[in-house]
Amino acid sequence: MSDAESGLIRGLEGVVAATTRLCDLDGVNGRLAYQGYGIEDLARHASFEEVVWLLWHGDLPRETELESFRKELTDAAALPPEVVKALKLLPKTMHPMRVLQTGVALLGGLDPDAEDSSPEANRRKATRLVAQVSSLTTAFHRIRSGRRPIAPRAGLSHAANFLYTLSGRKPRVVPVRAFDAALVLYAEHELNASTFTARVVASTLSDMHSAVSAAIGALKGPLHGGAGEAVMRTLEEIGQPEQADAFTRQALAEKRRLMGFGHRVYKAGDPRAKILRALAAKACRNSAEPVWYETAIKLHEAVSREKGLIPNVDFYSAPLFKGLGIPIDLFVPVIAVSRIAGWTANLMEQYADNRLIRPRADYVGPGAREFRPLAARGA
Ligand code: CMC
Repeated sequence: MSDAESGLIRGLEGVVAATTRLCDLDGVNGRLAYQGYGIEDLARHASFEEVVWLLWHGDLPRETELESFRKELTDAAALPPEVVKALKLLPKTMHPMRVLQTGVALLGGLDPDAEDSSPEANRRKATRLVAQVSSLTTAFHRIRSGRRPIAPRAGLSHAANFLYTLSGRKPRVVPVRAFDAALVLYAEHELNASTFTARVVASTLSDMHSAVSAAIGALKGPLHGGAGEAVMRTLEEIGQPEQADAFTRQALAEKRRLMGFGHRVYKAGDPRAKILRALAAKACRNSAEPVWYETAIKLHEAVSREKGLIPNVDFYSAPLFKGLGIPIDLFVPVIAVSRIAGWTANLMEQYADNRLIRPRADYVGPGAREFRPLAARGA
């Protein structure tokens, strides 16, 4: 049977599988808004915590609401001792995305609301997840580097606390602002693969932590969030801006996929990439290694010229995170630190209006066959 006869849409391209109030993604014009607020305004003026509140509550918080939400987050950040013990037992070489997935699954079993999926319990779990996905990432990094995990500081923003609990030093204002903007830009993106995964799990009425650990598994793949780390590996492989043209020609001749380029929905450009490019320029200029931004620019030019592909969100976030001093294998966990906002918001939407997500497959295997017992099948 042909694709047209069966109704098969490969990769579900263009299929609308949910209604949402969270994210308005206009791929034709390259526009993105959360709950009606343009991403440019949010990245420039709002903190990550304001965006989490916006996604969960439908509008931006007032001053007192924001203040108490910040406190809720710092209060929820501590990891249960069993989880810290488990992190210490894991191999130091394990990829931090696997650690994050394991950590979230474990947190689910220990959560005081583990068996309660009421809206109130889910709101409490969502707060703990936003706080603890950050804690898991920084705690594992400190443990594998032979240091003790540290608690976030009251009064610091979520972005500042991530950088503080990673390095142990209070970060400066400019890097915090850039990191905060990156968290805002990654917070939500409609039915991307990991969010869809989370919704599929929730649609079986499984719990929020199970849905999030599955989403982390999807995010890890190089065609999704894993591209962020892969971009940095590519920039390292290129090494110098002058090598970008030759690298691109050869990579395309070898039919290599160029990480950080192309997008399923955006055809006129990813609006997040433009903002991240400016942030990356500044961060790399202020770091000891401006070469990563310069190489990225040359690669962008060469790939546009040779193949006409657009850079996506993961392209300029790589030199930005490098410029901010984030270890390369934490680039994807950092996306999870942000996207947990969108995952939890989507999960709350899914639970509020649930129907099991269960599509069909077009069978293309052999026709009916006669069963042969093992002894009749030969040695
Ligand atoms: N490098 C080389 N060729 C590409 C790329 C790329 N990055 N992206 C698309 N193409 C080509 C592809 O080979 C195909 O060419 P042809 O028609 O000649 O066979 C054509 O463009 C269509 O590609 P596709 O794979 O059918 O498109 P898609 O909508 O399934 O893929 C994508 C979207 C994001 C998976 C793809 O562009 C890609 O693999 N990009 C690299 C990985 C990446 O950067 N992922 C991050 C995506 S955005 C953030 C996120 O989701 O987390």
